[in-house]
Amino acid sequence: MLCHLYILPLCYINIELYQILLIGQDNHNVGRHNLKIISGPASQLLATRVAKELDCDILLAEYKRFPDGEACVRVLDEIGDDVLIIQSTVSDGDLIYLLQLVDACEEVERVRVVIPYFRYARQERTSHPGEPISARAIARTIDADEIFTVNIHDPSVLGHFNGPAHDLDVAPLIGDYIRSLDLDRPIIIAPDDGACALARSSASKLGIDYDVLEKIRLNGEDVEIKPKHIDIMNRDVVIVDDIISTGETMVEAIELLWRQKPNDIYVACVHPVLARNALIRLFKAGIKELIATDTIENGASIISAAPVIAKAVE
Ligand code: R5P
Repeated sequence: MLCHLYILPLCYINIELYQILLIGQDNHNVGRHNLKIISGPASQLLATRVAKELDCDILLAEYKRFPDGEACVRVLDEIGDDVLIIQSTVSDGDLIYLLQLVDACEEVERVRVVIPYFRYARQERTSHPGEPISARAIARTIDADEIFTVNIHDPSVLGHFNGPAHDLDVAPLIGDYIRSLDLDRPIIIAPDDGACALARSSASKLGIDYDVLEKIRLNGEDVEIKPKHIDIMNRDVVIVDDIISTGETMVEAIELLWRQKPNDIYVACVHPVLARNALIRLFKAGIKELIATDTIENGASIISAAPVIAKAVE
């Protein structure tokens, strides 16, 4: 069972998963619910947390590659008739594993899928002739009785899945975490319009101020944030976005805000993609802490989306 733990990047995560699996072994096949959870390789920690919240079994599956690189999946435990597959699509390979898991459940009465981080959601429209709507192309391949995403970049994508799809909001959990930091006159700031709902939702949970910056995307890697005066002098600032990919959006926002002499700057996101050297760029820009959820499992994933997912599927 533990041979798959190598896919999780940090040893403290492995220890926690090990403990959860041991607890699960004690209660083997005695979950209160008929529901069985299957975790894809990208969401093993989150899936075990959801299973724990729901007190239901998590099935053992193995993920391998043939010598030519083709992915190969096998669910080793008996599947049953009510399944919840949890798999983020952090890489293109993760999408293949997800499709294979759905197909392995072809004969199952009810198959629901949670895609905590849905890759390609930022390609929800075309910018030039000849381009696909990639989010639509990918979403169409998922055929399930119900599909759940978490703070998907653009909710319009939900309409493209082959089945009723719902987006879950973990912003209140980010709000709870921010409250626990006991900040000095905190204010939440969205770096662009797209993150406004997330900032509003986190701030309303705390009953604090929020504001929004104006971002212009120059290309896939560069952005410009328009100067704006906000009352942040000697206050703690939390910049909130749905995704941190290259970190460019956050770094631009951080540099703009430092000029207005805040106390500390924190950054928070739902999906810590953290491509390339994003993490180092953020800390070099002077942030106090990076806060993210486990829709993508890495060292920044300090808030779990599990309670929100468990509540939606129970
Ligand atoms: C785009 O609008 C998203 O909400 C994020 O702002 C964006 O994906 C962040 O990307 P990056 O970290 O590469 O600037």
